[in-house]
Amino acid sequence: MYSLKCIECDAEYSKDAIIYTCSKCDGLLDVIYNYSSIEIDMDKLKTECPSVWKYAKLLPVKRVPVTLKEGGTPLYKCDRLAEKIGITKLYVKHEGMNPTGSFKDRGMTVGVTKALELGMKKFACASTGNTSAALAIYGAKAGVPVIVLLPAGKVALGKIAQALMHGAKVLSIRGNFDDAFALVRILCYQENIYLLNSINPYRLEGQKTIGFEIADQLGFRVPDRVVLPIGNAGNITAIYKGFKEFKILGITNSLPKMIGIQAEGSCPIVKAIKSGAPEITPEGNPETIATAIRIGNPVNSKKAIRAIRESGGTAESVTDEEILTAQKDLARLEGIGVEPASAASVAGLRKLVKMGMINIDETVVCITTGHLLKDISSVSEICEEPTVVDANIESIREAILRKVE
Ligand code: F0G
Repeated sequence: MYSLKCIECDAEYSKDAIIYTCSKCDGLLDVIYNYSSIEIDMDKLKTECPSVWKYAKLLPVKRVPVTLKEGGTPLYKCDRLAEKIGITKLYVKHEGMNPTGSFKDRGMTVGVTKALELGMKKFACASTGNTSAALAIYGAKAGVPVIVLLPAGKVALGKIAQALMHGAKVLSIRGNFDDAFALVRILCYQENIYLLNSINPYRLEGQKTIGFEIADQLGFRVPDRVVLPIGNAGNITAIYKGFKEFKILGITNSLPKMIGIQAEGSCPIVKAIKSGAPEITPEGNPETIATAIRIGNPVNSKKAIRAIRESGGTAESVTDEEILTAQKDLARLEGIGVEPASAASVAGLRKLVKMGMINIDETVVCITTGHLLKDISSVSEICEEPTVVDANIESIREAILRKVE
């Protein structure tokens, strides 16, 4: 039993409405459940391996899922990185281990399944890359055509390759992500295409399973803080909702502080949180090496600001240089290969620890949202080029010795 509810005016809509914002006040929508009617089998919950569909009772679909086995991503204890940052209990939840290499797969398995339930015959999204890759694979699996709108010249090649290979119609817009998103909304409305950006509340239901899984993997305990990069600001909201639902159902008994990290050249939510403003001021020319979060007008900002404030969390910005340092540390201290946007979480944590905002003995979970192979453009900025040598053992020995010096 569930329905859609406006976060601004509390207007309610049927679960079967094809609607993305409130038709009365244009507010964002949430999926709300009658929690007292949901029965959770705790023995099953404690024994079954984590995955998105493990938590099906808390997902808004009945139909057989369109799934490629998403979720169940590793939660690594990262002692070497923790030591470098100056805390004692650091975990990294590596969402790069999903089918397309990002957390978007969680949202799409649920969103696409819901779309089929609603009888929709075409799907679309705007994207900085990962959303388009995820929609492309679930569209392919469901046998439904997919259209994606990308900001031209600002999407990592690995992500475009995924969208193309899985058969999406890829349109590169001469504009930024915010322009592409405004256009895809019009397209979907005019052509009766199902919109699968994170403004779609059903997609966020899939992503809330990150919160479920973190609690699950920590033995149904909740960390003190969850740190993650923010772009369109859907994920932070979704994850917080996951933690809240586990608490409502009595599965856990606390909530984490939610910490959102943005790149310095693209940080409207950080500015709103720091100034105490009720809303963001959109940024016209967002810029950062972390193209996945190069967004000046995050559509879910109102939900995200509420989640951050309600949880007692905060938001912080990091420079591209700090992002690259964190990307290298994750790779070399922990063996976790991530794309630049993902490393923003660790860069932000390091900055907050330095600022004295986090106690040394707090349990912190950083979320790394996308895999290294998605976006290899920063590798040349961080790493030496391969050394070319002649094919004989003397040249190899000489090159190794030279490198060690
Ligand atoms: N990290 C990565 C790797 C992303 O791709 C995104 C968003 C985020 C973080 C931020 O998540 O939008 O929920 O706050 N990428 C979107 C896309 C915008 O189109 O792939 P968010």
